[in-house]
Amino acid sequence: MDCIYLDNNATTPLLPAVWEAMQPFAQQVCGNPASAHQAGRRARQALEDARERLAVLLGAYPDEVIFTSGATEANNLALFGLAGAPPGRLLASPIEHPSVAEPLRQFAEAGFSLEYLPVDASGSLPGDTLADRIAAETRLVAVMLANHETGALQPVEDLARTLDGRIPFHCDAVQAVGKVAVDFHALGVTTLSCSAHKFHGPKGIGLLLVRRGARLPPRLWGGHQQQGRRPGTEPVALAVGMAVALETAVRDRANRLETVRRLRHRLLDALAAHAAPVVLNGPAEGGVPHTLNLSFPGLKADLLLMSLDLAGVACSTGSACSSGSLLPSPVLQAMGVPQDVLRSAMRFSLSPLLTEAEVDEAARRIVKVVQRLRSANAV
Ligand SMILES: Cc1ncc(COP(=O)(O)O)c(C=O)c1O
Repeated sequence: MDCIYLDNNATTPLLPAVWEAMQPFAQQVCGNPASAHQAGRRARQALEDARERLAVLLGAYPDEVIFTSGATEANNLALFGLAGAPPGRLLASPIEHPSVAEPLRQFAEAGFSLEYLPVDASGSLPGDTLADRIAAETRLVAVMLANHETGALQPVEDLARTLDGRIPFHCDAVQAVGKVAVDFHALGVTTLSCSAHKFHGPKGIGLLLVRRGARLPPRLWGGHQQQGRRPGTEPVALAVGMAVALETAVRDRANRLETVRRLRHRLLDALAAHAAPVVLNGPAEGGVPHTLNLSFPGLKADLLLMSLDLAGVACSTGSACSSGSLLPSPVLQAMGVPQDVLRSAMRFSLSPLLTEAEVDEAARRIVKVVQRLRSANAV
């Protein structure tokens, strides 16, 4: 068995059916969707059809969908658009992905006051945490739906209900969309981002949902596309691929969730039995089961990561953007994880395409590496 890929929160393999659906729009339908001729109109029709299908799947209106190059762009578009100019107060979870955390840090440098909301030991915010924190000068709230390092789900609907539409609320739903049910209008947020390559769609496309009536100035200039909010020629084949990938994910959601839950238990049980001591970071149940964040106290995550790579297991020490960096995970830090647990944390992220045999083999390889590194530490 070659390399076993347990890094599906970083990105997922493209489904063959998605690739097949995209091909005609990459090769035969060659028009620019902004062109008035027949080739352009065919491209426009495919694009708008994909927009409509995605809107229905996500509980939004088609005119609320803005295609972007991915979620990093979507998060930046939302945050820079909604925050406006300082002064003012921003409220955010301390467990956001860098594509949210970094813009917020820049806002704080520019004169906003940034307040982090507390998370509990399993990586979730209390649903009533906003009740006594909202003030007249609050400009923006940013809380993700599912955490990329632990899988912990956040009570976004409860938090948005507290705001009652009075304050803009951005939600990064990248690790939830395509895995659990996500309904934009039911959540009650102002903007919501997601990315196709996290649910077996193509890389290079994501979207931002923007609630009707919300003011969202563009970040790019020089075109009228997408109501001028995100100008630039739209990638029709990628949009078609994103729609097919999400349709498949929603259609198969129950089965996929069941499969991934089973695989997660299998991996956790094997490692807890044979690679102890093992510490679970994040919720034992009730989160997005695709993520299994485990610490192997006594070991260092960067050495473990490299050794696992050599042994044929691809995983991560945190979000893809920070892998390779030796900085401790801000997500686990916010959860109050002790130093030794923090330094040895590994993220294994699963997909429904994995088989039980692959998970068993991955567990065997991980156990072998952990035992070898522990015995080398002991001498
Ligand atoms: C929670 C979260 N938000 C945003 C992103 C960025 O997504 P993209 O790769 O589409 O820019 C990621 C990717 O890891 C993520 O996990």
